[in-house]
Amino acid sequence: MNDQYWYQHAIFYEVSVQSFYDSNGDGIGDLAGLTEKLDYVKALGVDCLWLIPFFESPMRDGGYDISDYRKVNPAFGSIEDFKNLVAEAHKRNLRVVIDLVMNHTSDQHPWFQAARKDRNSPYHAYYVWSDSDQVYRDARIIFLDSEKSNWAWNEETHEYYWHRFYTHQPDLNYDNPAVLQEMLGIVDFWLALGIDGFRVDAVPYLIEREGTNCENLPETHSILKKLRAFVDENFPGRVLLCEANQWPRDVVKYLGNGDEFQMAFNFPLMPRIFMALKKVDSSPIRWAMEQMPAIPAICQWGTFLRNHDELTLEMVTEEERQFMWAEYAHDHRQRLNLGIRRRLAPLLDNDQERIELAFSLLFSLPGTPFLYYGDELGMGDNIELFDRNGLRTPMQWDGGINAGFSTARKTVEPVIDSLDFPVLKVNAATAEADSHSLWHTIRKMIDLRRANPELGSPEFDWVECNDPRAAVFVRDADGQGVIAVHNLSRDSLHIKFAVSADEVKSVKDLFTGRSFEVEAGALTIDLLSSQFLWLKYSLK
Ligand code: BGC
Repeated sequence: MNDQYWYQHAIFYEVSVQSFYDSNGDGIGDLAGLTEKLDYVKALGVDCLWLIPFFESPMRDGGYDISDYRKVNPAFGSIEDFKNLVAEAHKRNLRVVIDLVMNHTSDQHPWFQAARKDRNSPYHAYYVWSDSDQVYRDARIIFLDSEKSNWAWNEETHEYYWHRFYTHQPDLNYDNPAVLQEMLGIVDFWLALGIDGFRVDAVPYLIEREGTNCENLPETHSILKKLRAFVDENFPGRVLLCEANQWPRDVVKYLGNGDEFQMAFNFPLMPRIFMALKKVDSSPIRWAMEQMPAIPAICQWGTFLRNHDELTLEMVTEEERQFMWAEYAHDHRQRLNLGIRRRLAPLLDNDQERIELAFSLLFSLPGTPFLYYGDELGMGDNIELFDRNGLRTPMQWDGGINAGFSTARKTVEPVIDSLDFPVLKVNAATAEADSHSLWHTIRKMIDLRRANPELGSPEFDWVECNDPRAAVFVRDADGQGVIAVHNLSRDSLHIKFAVSADEVKSVKDLFTGRSFEVEAGALTIDLLSSQFLWLKYSLK
């Protein structure tokens, strides 16, 4: 566990503690339950867990509304349970990254409770206030479906407070140095417990300035650089991962010169993988890859298909958004804010071939892949549930009661068991037992990524192919290479493309072991519907 740049060639697995496994039969997943299931996580082959917030919270935003940053939500266990989880994970060579919600607290946090009662409280200046709700008018509203304004009225002090998310999530005031100090204390607390880093939530919005859109401001970057300096100084080697849902030119700034975040989620790429699949054309992915400037050598993108949020369509044009909604969210209830609240399998017609094709793109493009729990089983979603809860339902372990998640009569959210997603079929036990399952394909991809380090490198080039329905690119580092070939269509294709290095006489598909000969400097290949190949060559 001492490779400083481990995150550049790792696989992350995102887990919601309350939905993973219930160890005490109260219907709610807990830290002890997650600990019991670490062998499953390990068997899948991932390197690092990312836990979404499990702190004390009124749980009105999936735990991203924190009322005590140092306490575990009692429904999920205790700090001892957390320490045990970290110890057991480390024993298995699994790392643990947790969420750091810097931008806002819950309105139930004692800081805000004190602040909202009294303008003279020292905590008043922890938040952002105004006598008018006409300030910072250029800041967009993020939770469009539920919020009318970024300002909310506080009756006790007769003024407005600022919130970029729900009204019950007041933004912290980073113009007040005491706030960063508090946050660094919290960072210190969790890092001292041995975690391997933080996924830092909603970072673009830390600072507000009149006349700007209040996103990505230079002052925000300087706060984040201080966070990084603190971590480097006190806990060298721990990783900071940035959640900034921004355009390429803005998102890349969060990596700084390697002195801000080590990792940032690649938000512009994600929706374009879905566009490419639907359009049967790699152009959207090409666009995203071309826009991305080179990143510092110590940094890495975090790539993903889905997570616990809606599939966000903020970083696409209006035309692209309409396309995505029309293609992937026919039912208007599937639309949320500027996104789509569906899981991966339902989005891809519950078609294993298409889901594997999407994962092949994810695993062969540059970046460190993030999996979202349950997507490896092809779990479904539930449109009837509030907000994004329909894609945070209990993990399905087996075909038994509550899919083996809990022995309680009622679970935190109902288990998904429908005609298209029968729990008897969609569960971990069945998936692990069936060597042709999606689970096994993902497991294989993870193994192959580990065995072929060029896939974790930044090296990437498109290969021109005679048929635009195929996406072909090469990942070549240190004389080792993989040519990734994807048939984006459901048709059979006969494709031909040049192999640039003269030394390459033949290539071998890493999935099937099948060899292909290079003839007159080119490869000619027949592809089945949605087929993908990872063609390995070695110049050594
Ligand atoms: C999280 C969301 C959350 C929001 C507000 C995010 O970006 O991923 O789940 O609702 O921050 O905290």
